[in-house]
Order: sequence, then structure tokens, then C-alpha cells
Amino acid sequence: MLSVRGLESGYGRARVLFGVSLDVEPGQLVCVMGRNGVGKTTLLNTIMGVIPATAGTVTFEGRDVTKLKPHERVRLGMGYVPQGHETFPQLSVLGNLLVTLEASPHRDESAIDEALEIFPRLKPLLKRRAGFLSGGQQQQLAIARALVTRPKLLILDEPTEGIQPSIILEIEEAIERLHASGLAVLLVEQYVDLALRMADRFLILDAGHVVHSGSADELRGEEVHRLLAV
Ligand SMILES: Nc1ncnc2c1ncn2[C@@H]1O[C@H](COP(=O)(O)OP(=O)(O)OP(=O)(O)O)[C@@H](O)[C@H]1O
Ligand SMILES: [Mg+2]
Repeated sequence: MLSVRGLESGYGRARVLFGVSLDVEPGQLVCVMGRNGVGKTTLLNTIMGVIPATAGTVTFEGRDVTKLKPHERVRLGMGYVPQGHETFPQLSVLGNLLVTLEASPHRDESAIDEALEIFPRLKPLLKRRAGFLSGGQQQQLAIARALVTRPKLLILDEPTEGIQPSIILEIEEAIERLHASGLAVLLVEQYVDLALRMADRFLILDAGHVVHSGSADELRGEEVHRLLAV
């Protein structure tokens, strides 16, 4: 469903990604891992078109989307939750969800109820300003916003970063429910244990190159821990 081939990008003259290729098949959960600064966020931003690709292609459901704008990719069914749980802090929780609904390819309000079913903790907070939520609640809202567009592929950048352990579990359960319901997921995740529990396949980035990829069983090798060690 998502096919990335020979992707390169960077900032000014500094190239960050070198010929990255990966696939996400329908219903698969693919996890990208790697140390800080290896290019994980740059990879997701390039897949979404937030950063232009200087070489390579991004194909989604058989269509070359490499030159499309981010919102055009969202409309095709690529949902994106950037690193750092971004929300509109001045808007209420419901306001955040409604803004996303208006920008989504459908205008079906039941998509908001569906997203709240995944994150019931948000239900009593609908009137609260997003800026007053805890970090974990903001992350849940950020994922709920992406769900309101009814994506076919959900792309998540470190959804558990800086979040208290009890909420990490809730977020993990939510992602697993979405995966179990057939949604394809491309996840950047720093916790190896969590990645091992959830992922069908994984890849490891180092200095902008894919240095390892395979099934979760293969991730248990020492080589992999060496590649992830700080
Ligand atoms: N806006 C930017 N301008 C210039 N360089 C950048 C920019 N964003 C990231 N970089 C550099 O690109 C490289 C990859 O950064 P990126 O954020 O993709 O890494 P990451 O793997 O997501 O790291 P982390 O685990 O800390 O989130 C780093 O060397 C970083 O300093
Ligand atoms: Mg990052």
C-alpha cells in the first residue's frame, strides 16, 4: 500500500536520507527504529511531503505521490501524527477534532465518535482547551485528529515520547486495536520492547541508511541491539 524507493532528502546542502526503501502492506504495522538524529522524522516528513524528496519515489496505493502536497496525501488516506503531539492549544478538544473534520475528504461527524471510541479518556474533556491537557492526553488528541480523516495508513512519529507510563500503555493498546481492525501503520518507536510487541516488520535507520530490516523475531539478535545502543 505504501512503497518508498531510493528516497533522499535533507536540509539545504546537508543530506540526511540516503536511498531509503521500505514497504507497508495493507494491514501491516511497520516500525522504524534508530538512535536520535539518524533521520527518522526526516523520513516521515519526506514520505508526507512536508520536506521535498531530492531523489526517489513515494507510491501510495499504486499512485506516485512524490510531488503531491501534504494535504493532498492526507486526502488520499495518509494520516500523519508528527513528533511532539501537535494540537491547536487555543481550541477545545472538540474544536480540534472539528477543524480536522472540515479539512478531511469526508464530512461525516460520526468519524469524531469513532475516534473517541479509541480514546475514551478524551470524552469528558471535549470542552477543555487542548493547551491545558497533559502531554499524554495531547498525544491521544493528536492521534484522534488523524483518525478523524479516516486514514487508510496511519503514520506516527514517536507517540510515546515523553509520556507517563500508564498513558503509554493506553496509546499502545489504541494502536494495537487500530492495527487489529485492519489499519496499516507506519510507526517510529524508540522503545524496543514496545516495538517488538506490536510490529509485523521493522527497519533500523543509521545515518540516513536502512541498515537492518526484517520480522520482529529477527530483531532479537544482538546485532540489532548494537545498532540501537546509544
Ligand atoms: N529543520 C532542520 N534543519 C536542519 N537540519 C535538521 C532539521 N531537522 C533535522 N535536522 C538534522 O537532520 C538529522 C536527522 O534529524 P531527524 O529529526 O530526522 O532525526 P530523528 O531520527 O527523528 O531524531 P530523534 O530520535 O531525536 O527524533 C539530524 O542531524 C538533525 O540535526
Ligand atoms: Mg524524530
